[in-house]
Amino acid sequence: MITVIGSLNMDLVISTNHFPTQGQTVLGEFFETIPGGKGANQAVAAARLGAPTAMIGCVGNDSFGTTLYSNLENENVDVKGIATSKKATGIANILLYEKDNRIIVVPGANYDVDEALIDQQWSVISQSKLVVLQLEIPVPTVDYILMKCKESGVPVLLNPAPAKYFDVKWLKDVTYLTPNENECEEIFGKLFTEVVKDYPNKVIVTLGGNGAYFYDGEQPVHVKGYSAKVIDTTGAGDTFNGALSYAICEGYKLQEAVQFANSAASISVEKFGAQGGMPSNTEVMARLGQLKNN
Ligand code: RIB
Repeated sequence: MITVIGSLNMDLVISTNHFPTQGQTVLGEFFETIPGGKGANQAVAAARLGAPTAMIGCVGNDSFGTTLYSNLENENVDVKGIATSKKATGIANILLYEKDNRIIVVPGANYDVDEALIDQQWSVISQSKLVVLQLEIPVPTVDYILMKCKESGVPVLLNPAPAKYFDVKWLKDVTYLTPNENECEEIFGKLFTEVVKDYPNKVIVTLGGNGAYFYDGEQPVHVKGYSAKVIDTTGAGDTFNGALSYAICEGYKLQEAVQFANSAASISVEKFGAQGGMPSNTEVMARLGQLKNN
């Protein structure tokens, strides 16, 4: 079982061809309300590939919360670890402009993912093949999870987004860290090609369409990306993380797992919405066989 402990957000997506300057009003192209949140997205990505997946998180007692809960249930994610809080369900305001996105998250109920909830769900967490974390829940809770997982020998993949909340002391406690290029620079203050050398087979840097990069202990490994017809990049990183988690749990070697995750991420950008383009196992395999080889 993969256990994802993280955020569930309702994504409020605006697509625009005109990016407003301060004080300016412009007309957008369309608006949609769709399920998101880095935690929920990563859980859906893993579950669609066939991984038994559980989600631990928190939603508000409101219509967004009900929708997010049912969405995960419909995606075959175990939702027994999703609590309801008095705060409003988390939202993400997503501005799509020139095929890229700018996101503002208001965490709401996600900030009620606390130590008590982790204790309550510990029997599930402690039996997981892999625990998957991001940083849209409170930092002290991440601290607590890492401490408990380390004590019990449960492997953890941490996707350090948003990177602002990453604490370098966690490096020794995580099994895998998956920043993108910008997050890597924000965390370590140096070029990703240098960073990976210090953390062989642990820090895997995602490079968007260019694939991903890590160091295998002897040499740098650049696992190239797949070309894609980009519609919406929202959730591509989450697809990568969900797929990487799936492949690691299936016993793939790291390089093959990263290649699998690159293939999944390249498919995900070809449809609208964070979860809209997340592929099935068959789709990932087809692209792995078909396209640009590494
Ligand atoms: O990674 C994309 C996600 O970031 C969105 O779904 C949004 O909810 C934010 O958490």
